[in-house]
Amino acid sequence: MWLKGFLDGISSTLAPPSGESTPAAVAPPAGHPVTIVWGSQTGTCETLGKKAAKILSGKGHIPTVLDMQQLTPEVIGKSERLLVITSTYGDGEPPDNAAAIHSSIHAEDALRFPALNYSVLALGDSSYPDFCKCGQDFDTRLAALGASRIAPLMECDVDYDDPFDQWVESVGSALAPA
Ligand SMILES: Cc1cc2nc3c(=O)[nH]c(=O)nc-3n(C[C@H](O)[C@H](O)[C@H](O)COP(=O)(O)O)c2cc1C
Repeated sequence: MWLKGFLDGISSTLAPPSGESTPAAVAPPAGHPVTIVWGSQTGTCETLGKKAAKILSGKGHIPTVLDMQQLTPEVIGKSERLLVITSTYGDGEPPDNAAAIHSSIHAEDALRFPALNYSVLALGDSSYPDFCKCGQDFDTRLAALGASRIAPLMECDVDYDDPFDQWVESVGSALAPA
């Protein structure tokens, strides 16, 4: 009798009340695939691209980091979300690995990107007359080709840590599932 009472007590603690089913595990909100591309001459933007990917995957997004050398208009056309991180070299020119895609999207008959959501982080140095020109070019041209800007262009001077953090924060929120 004592043992039966003991076992009944245990089973009533473990079993859900009658009529209720065991609660299903709650799935975390699904993040978005996002392509992060970097244009860089001396590695800073590459480092920032990888850092942005780490932060965004921590927020549940699914980033892919790409050297701008590998970026074509067709790749842009296939991605719904694109984050561009680029420096400026020479007299307002793109870094070497961004030159080809910069030129392709500025062609008269360039592919249009009506389904693309994007944002640009531009690195530069305000001691140059064409401060952050390459980032500005990408930002302006992608909009002209029909893409939607999800967070404003962020221009960074030599102290880029704070603006980088602000930009990642704002793109992270803009990408967050509704
Ligand atoms: C030779 C040279 C030319 C540069 N020209 C520009 C320029 O025209 N405009 C600008 O904003 N920054 C210019 N910069 C600054 C770089 O864009 C800046 O240092 C950037 O952080 C470098 O990033 P990266 O290492 O990813 O290439 C120039 C730097 C060098 C060394």
